[in-house]
Formats: sequence, C-alpha cells, structure tokens
Amino acid sequence: MLKFRLLCLCLITVFAFSFLLSAQEIKTESLPKPNINGRNSSILKLLENRRTHRQFSTKEISAQQLSEILWCANGVNDTISGKRTVPSAYNWHGVTVYAAASNGLFIYEPNEHSLNKISDKDIRTFTGSQDFVKRAPLTLIYVADFGKMNPKSKTMNDDKRLFLSAIEAGCMVQSVYLYCASEGLNTVVRDMVDRDALAKQMEVLKPKQKIVIVQTIGYQD
Ligand SMILES: Cc1cc2nc3c(=O)[nH]c(=O)nc-3n(C[C@H](O)[C@H](O)[C@H](O)COP(=O)(O)O)c2cc1C
Repeated sequence: MLKFRLLCLCLITVFAFSFLLSAQEIKTESLPKPNINGRNSSILKLLENRRTHRQFSTKEISAQQLSEILWCANGVNDTISGKRTVPSAYNWHGVTVYAAASNGLFIYEPNEHSLNKISDKDIRTFTGSQDFVKRAPLTLIYVADFGKMNPKSKTMNDDKRLFLSAIEAGCMVQSVYLYCASEGLNTVVRDMVDRDALAKQMEVLKPKQKIVIVQTIGYQD
C-alpha cells in the first residue's frame, strides 16, 4: 500500500512539474503598435479601413474603377512572367473572374486585361439571396476550373482543388476589399448564393467549373 502511495505521489509531482514548465514557456510579448502613418502607411491605412458593407445604390461604377477592380482581383503585374496580383497554387491560376452587371455577364481575361461579354442577360438577381444583389451595379463571380488544376501530387483530388481555389479566390477577394477601401466603394464577399441556380443562369460553365464565392461592389445607398 505504501509503495502504491509513493508511486502516486511521484506521478503527481512529475505532472505538476511538467505543467509548471509548460506554463512558463508561454510568454506574453507585447508587440509595437502598427505605425499607420509610418513607412508602410499606404497598405496599413487600407487595411485599417477595410470593411464589409451591405448598402448599395444603383449608381454605376466608372470604367476606370472596373478596370482597376479586375486588375486587383486577378491582373497581370509582370508581363514577362505573366504572374498576377494574387498568388496561385502551383501557378495554375485556376480561378477565373466573371462580372455580372446590368448590361450582361462578362469574363475577365488577365493576359489581355480585357472584359469580354458572354451574354446580354442581367443575372445579378441570381447572384445571391440578399436583397441588395439586384440593385448593386457589380457582382464578381469567382469560378474555379478543376480542369486547369492538373495533379502535381498523388494526393490531389477535388476536395484539395476546391480548398486551394478557395484560398486563391480569398486572395482576390481581399485585393478587391483593399481597392474598395481606397476608392470609398462598398463591398461584401458572399457565400449566401445558390451556386447551382447561378451556374445555370451563367450558361457557360462546364461540370469541372465550380463557383467558389461571389463579391458585390458599388456605392453606398
Ligand atoms: C467566406 C466568407 C463568406 C461570407 N459570406 C457572406 C454572405 O453571404 N453575406 C454577407 O452579408 N456577408 C458575408 N460575409 C462577410 C462577413 O459577414 C464579414 O466579413 C464579417 O461579418 C466581418 O465583417 P468585416 O468584413 O467588416 O470585418 C462573408 C465573409 C467571408 C470571409
């Protein structure tokens, strides 16, 4: 019995010591405050102002703004390598940006930096269940093309393709958020969309092309 008690005491002591040691390892170090007006003020100020807004007027955004939004989302920032404003898994660039506006549905071609009309149909109402989607002048539809995402490893499958393209689309979304913060435009990224219904309305998507997420942009109501 004494032996058992001694063993218990030893075990409790060992656990207590290891707990105290691990607790000591976690140190809180306060960081210097981001210097919003300092050397990197332009990016820090945009991040400070980045916000989701859900009020939209029908006011159109200008052609210049549209061009810059698309360039931020997926534009070529190095014409020699063809690389973009956003990173891409395996440099696949498997996510394409479509634009739904009152005058139709368009596809953005990064290499030509052009916006090509696919149809005259106004499908904005199908881009989400929230009321403002019909009114806001622009919704970007981020579409992953699994056909472009060829296996680079044995573990590649559609779950991983969706995961990687969601991250790529997320980078695009944030670029557009920051642009909107700089231009005084409202924006909201949205999961609240019936992807099957929207894909049907788009009419051009093949089975391997999946709607990842949508993002609405416009002026304050
Ligand atoms: C992946 C994702 C999906 C989202 N889906 C919706 C949505 O369907 N509708 C909506 O109004 N907001 C949506 N949001 C916006 C979030 O509600 C918003 O980012 C959050 O409330 C934080 O607010 P903030 O962006 O102003 O910091 C989404 C955000 C993310 C990242």
